[in-house]
Amino acid sequence: MKMVDMKIDYLADHVEHVPVLAKWFHDEWSYLSPSYELLDRTERLRGRANREGIPVAFVAVSDAVPVGSASLIECDMDTHSHLMPWMSSVYVDRSARKRGLGTALVARVVEEARQQGVDRLYLWTAKEEQWYAGMGWQVFERTSYRCETAIIMAIDL
Ligand SMILES: CC(C)(COP(=O)(O)OP(=O)(O)OC[C@H]1O[C@@H](n2cnc3c(N)ncnc32)[C@H](O)[C@@H]1OP(=O)(O)O)[C@@H](O)C(=O)NCCC(=O)NCCS
Repeated sequence: MKMVDMKIDYLADHVEHVPVLAKWFHDEWSYLSPSYELLDRTERLRGRANREGIPVAFVAVSDAVPVGSASLIECDMDTHSHLMPWMSSVYVDRSARKRGLGTALVARVVEEARQQGVDRLYLWTAKEEQWYAGMGWQVFERTSYRCETAIIMAIDL
């Protein structure tokens, strides 16, 4: 995909893209919570369509087409609710990967957290430890979550 006029905006400014993003997330992550339906995911994402505070979601848009997303949320691991806030739902459409968009989405969430006065931000990942490490995130804890290997990472802001 050629990325034309790519920009990262608040999802609140593009709520029409909520169903597409929810479908991406459902296809990618429903194995983690099989009872969680697409409708639940759609409603939860709609709840992140804010321009301030937490939760807040971002969408990358190219020529009016959504190509990626990332969120800043209170907690992404119910086993670790003492840690907050978290970056979650970092996703780039397959056709737009390996061109720096994921990195830009992560940077946007980090910037938002910093602007909101957050001292430390967390995430968990099963497979992308090296990618996040390259952006300055450090391993906080190695654990398991919903039968998956889970690496909790943190970044000090
Ligand atoms: C993980 C994910 C968000 C990365 O998105 P992306 O847009 O491909 O990310 P980037 O382009 O910033 O970086 C990916 C790689 O492409 C490389 N890259 C970036 N720009 C590039 C360019 N112009 N040319 C070639 N390679 C490039 C990066 O160096 C990086 O390399 P690495 O994997 O060896 O570290 C994406 O693969 C995805 O959505 N995966 C499914 C969901 C997921 O796993 N999310 C993370 C959950 S924790």
